Amino acid sequence: TIERTFSIIKPDAVGRNLVGDIYHRFENAGLQIIAAKMLHLSREQAEGFYAEHQGKPFYDPLIKFMTSGPIMVQVLEGEDAIRRHREVIGATDPAKAQAGTIRADYASSVQQNAVHGSDSTTSAEREIAYFFTTEEICPRTR
Ligand code: CMP
Repeated sequence: TIERTFSIIKPDAVGRNLVGDIYHRFENAGLQIIAAKMLHLSREQAEGFYAEHQGKPFYDPLIKFMTSGPIMVQVLEGEDAIRRHREVIGATDPAKAQAGTIRADYASSVQQNAVHGSDSTTSAEREIAYFFTTEEICPRTR
C-alpha cells in the first residue's frame, strides 16, 4: 500500500548540517518528499505536537530540546512508507538502533535522537495535519 508518513529532522541534526544527508537516506529508501519546510517551534507548537507525552519525566526536557533550534518537517510518500521510514530511522534508543540507521549514526541520546517518525497510520494523519495544509502537500501526480 502507498502510504504517507510524517517526519522531523530535529534541532541536533539540523544544527550539525545533516539535512541533505538525511534527505538522501529517505530518497534512497524509496520515500518521496512530497512536502517540506523549516520551522523554529514555539513552546505551544511543541506542547501540542507532543501532548500524548505530557506528564512523563522526559516531557519538559523534550519540549526544551525541540524548541532549541530550527527543525525540518516533511511528509514522505511511498510503498509501506510508515514502516520503511522507521527502518531508516532506527530504534528510539541509539544504543539499540541497527548499524547504518540514522539514529545509530547521528543520535547522541534517547532525547537528542536526530529524527522523528510517525508510528502508525493514525498518528501519521494527525501529525501531517498538525504541520501541513492540503495545499502544501505536493504528490508527483494528482
Ligand atoms: P520521538 O519519536 O520524537 O517521540 C517522542 C520523543 O521523546 C522521542 O522521539 C525522544 O526524543 C523522546 N523520548 C522518548 N523516550 C524518552 C526517554 N526515555 N528519555 C528521554 N527522551 C525520550
